[in-house]
Amino acid sequence: MAEQFILARENGRSIPKEDRIFGISNRAKEAIRQKGADAVVNGTIGALLDDDGKLIVLESVDEVFRQLAPEDYAEYAPIGGLATFREAVQKAAFGNHVPEGYKQAIATPGGTGSLRNVISAYSSPGDQVLTSDWHWAPYNTIAGEIGRSVATFQFFDENRAFNAGSFASKVAELLANQGSLVIILNTPAHNPTGYSLTLQDWDKVIGILCEEAKCGKAIALLIDAAYIDFAGDEDEYREFLPKLAALPENVLPVMAYSLSKTYTLYGARCGAMICIAKTPEIAEEFKRVCEFSSRGTWSNSAKLAQVILTKIYEDPELLKRVDEEREKYRNMLIARGTAFSEEAEKVGLEIVPFDAGFFVSVPCEDPDALSKKLEEQDIFLVPLKMGIRVSVASLSEEKCRRLPEAIKKTME
Ligand SMILES: Cc1ncc(COP(=O)(O)O)c(C=O)c1O
Repeated sequence: MAEQFILARENGRSIPKEDRIFGISNRAKEAIRQKGADAVVNGTIGALLDDDGKLIVLESVDEVFRQLAPEDYAEYAPIGGLATFREAVQKAAFGNHVPEGYKQAIATPGGTGSLRNVISAYSSPGDQVLTSDWHWAPYNTIAGEIGRSVATFQFFDENRAFNAGSFASKVAELLANQGSLVIILNTPAHNPTGYSLTLQDWDKVIGILCEEAKCGKAIALLIDAAYIDFAGDEDEYREFLPKLAALPENVLPVMAYSLSKTYTLYGARCGAMICIAKTPEIAEEFKRVCEFSSRGTWSNSAKLAQVILTKIYEDPELLKRVDEEREKYRNMLIARGTAFSEEAEKVGLEIVPFDAGFFVSVPCEDPDALSKKLEEQDIFLVPLKMGIRVSVASLSEEKCRRLPEAIKKTME
């Protein structure tokens, strides 16, 4: 593939000429420009939009932003983040279900930064990182950038349930072949399927990891919680957290928390990696290694959203307003997802097990061909390896209701 590049080095990565999602999204925007928004379905966008296709920004958060002083955003933040942010983000991430253990939170540029640094800290070059077969494609990019790759287990078994058997055998296989293992579980409201691990699924995951950890190797369990506040009741969807305490010392749970969706601060690039360690030494090591990596990648993270979160958690009234405002939009999102899955069932369109969140996935044989045919009808969705992804976050309930039939007909 050397001829693809003039001066740049490919270094084992597969670097496309155009980001696929942005390519489709651009064609969707062009169609909207020519034919009008009503005539086009743009289900490609990974952000919450209102029924007119406009980005939703929480007003309560925006008000805090507008009251900031220049030093709140212009000044450098410490490498690991403001001390007040490191406290506040743990409250935001854990809510009323604080897991037992020694916690350290380090600021990152979005959840993406957490993924990058945890992979870097707990795996070695050449290692494989484990996640489900349905997964957010950038995991491959993030791992590939630092000389790792992604291995997958089957997310669902033939009964459309979490495939604990496949998970167990992949964990065992990888641990037999490498010195440590990073596992990424994106839950609740998984991208691209909308699946949330149930409490029973979590019991299985924890049981398997307790067993596999007997080999003594290090396992980092990275919980990608980017959509945790859009799955449903914030409290209920955090009930799994105390279960993590059952893991042995050599399994380190880390939550990759993001402010992108929860506070509609996508572009402010703020998140945190939060470890829940069994010993203070393991927590301290996490902090030391991850801060070192931060210094060598993005240096310090942007201060702006760290200050915003601090201010929200310093003011109970404001926090209440933010939570209530988000709840209103979350209910809107849930209604869209429900509309899509209800209609899919009615018209006999198979979807991947869905619970909640920004996306629904439709399994199919040839996702590229299906997506192309849909584009001819001005329906823009994202083709994945095993199906197509519909962003219900970016479509009105009415469009979500109409879409399953159109997809079903096109498939036939
Ligand atoms: C599954 C998943 N993880 C992590 C992220 C990280 O987003 P950010 O870096 O904006 O926090 C996203 C964003 O789309 C995502 O879909």
